[in-house]
Amino acid sequence: MTIPDLAYAESLIAETPDYPEPGVLFRDISPLLADPRAMRATFEALVEPFRGEFDVVGGIEARGFLLAGYVAAVEGVGMLPIRKAGKLPRPAAAVSYALEYGTATIEAPGVLWPGARVLLVDDVLATGGTIAAAREIITQLGATVAGAAVILELDGLGGRAVAGDLHTVFTA
Ligand code: PRP
Repeated sequence: MTIPDLAYAESLIAETPDYPEPGVLFRDISPLLADPRAMRATFEALVEPFRGEFDVVGGIEARGFLLAGYVAAVEGVGMLPIRKAGKLPRPAAAVSYALEYGTATIEAPGVLWPGARVLLVDDVLATGGTIAAAREIITQLGATVAGAAVILELDGLGGRAVAGDLHTVFTA
């Protein structure tokens, strides 16, 4: 992974004004994911500070799953899917929170062992509510948050203060 690779990856993040509602500038990582050089550089930068410090990667539905699958395979750890409400037959943890636009509830299955060290990953940090809720999910499960990492932090929304200590690859 080199800095030019990361700069290239950042240049692939697409911006769509007024989506999903007026006044919101939506950033889409799809072009970055479609490019193997950009994807690899970004995912490696995402996980690098946490290497060897986690047993499980927790991916937040939906786009966090894309990152978690890669991290789990490359690092040789298990994956915890943190799902939107209503998708799991027997959720062991559930937390409701406010989004940049709307509200949401996330849930997780009871598949972790006490003290398991979980790295949380997601694509975007906006208001920080999702990462904060995911931290609470891990605590409810009796596990430990080893860290949290997102590809893109949206500056100016106060998300970092809400989400707690966080590693981000890009800031916009
Ligand atoms: C987006 C994004 C993060 C969350 C960040 O998810 O993928 O999970 O919002 O927002 P916050 O910091 O304000 O909590 P979204 O609910 O749009 O789900 P998706 O991944 O299914 O598109």
